[in-house]
Parts: sequence; C-alpha cells; structure tokens
Amino acid sequence: MNSELLVSDASHFRVDYEINPYMDTAVQPDAQAALAEHRAIVAAHLAAGRTVEYLPSAPECPDMVFTANAAVVRGGRAVLGCPPPQRKAEIPYVQEWLAGRGFEVVEAPYPFSGQGDALACGDLLLTGYGQRTDERMLPVLARELGCEVVPLRTLDSRWYDLDLAVGVIDAGTVAYCPQALDAPSVRTLRGLGIELIEVCLEEARRFALNLVSDGTTVTMAREAPRLAAALRDRGLKVVVLGTAELAKGGGGIRCTALSLDGAPARQR
Ligand code: ARG
Repeated sequence: MNSELLVSDASHFRVDYEINPYMDTAVQPDAQAALAEHRAIVAAHLAAGRTVEYLPSAPECPDMVFTANAAVVRGGRAVLGCPPPQRKAEIPYVQEWLAGRGFEVVEAPYPFSGQGDALACGDLLLTGYGQRTDERMLPVLARELGCEVVPLRTLDSRWYDLDLAVGVIDAGTVAYCPQALDAPSVRTLRGLGIELIEVCLEEARRFALNLVSDGTTVTMAREAPRLAAALRDRGLKVVVLGTAELAKGGGGIRCTALSLDGAPARQR
C-alpha cells in the first residue's frame, strides 16, 4: 500500500508553553538532536517506499513539526484542525499547502485535533474526543469526509490525542491501550470485528502507539519492545527509532506525519 505523508521539520521546535502533560518549558529539546531525530523519521518513511511531501516550519510555530494536528485528510477533502490558541498560527500554512495541492479544504467549527484524533482504518475513521476534539465534531467529520466515524473517548490528558492510545496497523488490525479509553469505547473497539493488539500502559506511555504503518512496514518508537515483537510475529517489518527529543513536546512518530492518502492528482 503506497502512502503519502506531509511532514515539516524540527528547525523551530521548542517547548514555549505547556499544553499537554509531557511538556515542561524547563526541559528544552536539544536543537541538533531534534533535527537528527526528525531526519531519521523521514528517512525511514522514504526507505519504506512512502512518498513524503515537505512544508517548511515557521519560526513562530514551535510545534509545527507535529503536522498531524493541522488537518485530517480523506479522499480529496481535508478538514482543518482547530487547535489550542498556542498552535493556531500553524493552520494557515497547512491550509494554503493543502489548497495548493488541490484538496477541498473546510474549517472545523469546534475544537478539533486533526489526525491526532482521527485515524483512518479502512472505511472507518477512529475518532477521539473529550480532550482536544469536541464531541460535536463527530457528525461534522462523518458528513464532510463521507465516512463512518467510530467515537472513542480517551480517559485523561495523558491521552490528549487518540494517536497516543490507538495505532492503526492495517485496515483489519489495530493496536491499543485498554487503560487509555473509557469502558464504552473499549467495547466499541472490540465490537468492530477487527483484530486488536493490546499494548500495556507502560509502553503506551512511552508513545508505543504513536506509529506509522502502511500495512507492510511499521515505523515506531524504540521504547516498546513488546509491541515491536507482537508486530514482527505477525510478519510485519518493524523499524524502531529514537524519539526522546520530540517526546519533550509530547509527540512522536505519528504526530510528525499527516497522511494524504487519496490526494488529488498532482497538477503539472
Ligand atoms: N506539543 C504538541 C501539542 O501539544 C504535540 C502534538 C503531538 N501530536 C499528536 N498528534 N499527538 O499539541
């Protein structure tokens, strides 16, 4: 399965504010190490045969490396993220890029964490709410993107985005941490008829689920050996990377890549 990803860069990555429990303005990323980490992630996508598009980060946007929050994209349409005030300045850059690429771009009427809370799984859109995404976004996403929305409520701010609690491996396989979701959401997931891989709290907290999978190769954090082994047992190729610098912003591999699958044909 080919996949296309929009990434930015870590040139302006800093911890200027604290909008998730992993951020501490007293603990800044090492600039060179962060750049190297991000470059290694991009190199891993390319080595896996994924197409990578690049949007330069802006100096006034210290979290812009986490492109996943700027929108969710499906087919030729994109619903923009509506992030906390500290990250609002990122949105016009991504909006312009998506529109320039031929996407029909719509704004979110309520708080919405973009792909951070909206993970495509075949025809389903696994949609997190209760933290950065307002519940009222669920019908909006179903309507705007023409897909079936599966509502999943994460339990607390450690899981401020669904992509820390759930990782889509392929259309029939999802990894998740049961302790990160409320009981009805766990039941919902179990009722979907897809294969589920349970990830322990310890590995989930180290961003194990914040992974990119194309169904053949899984690119994931180094600190989750149990999940990595479970995926290898299923015949997947697993590539592990260090993400200690990005983790200071509260993000990992999945957060740095906005999936553009179903992108309109490129204008020549
Ligand atoms: N510091 C960023 C924020 O709090 C991290 C975003 C990570 N993105 C994600 N999809 N989980 O918004």
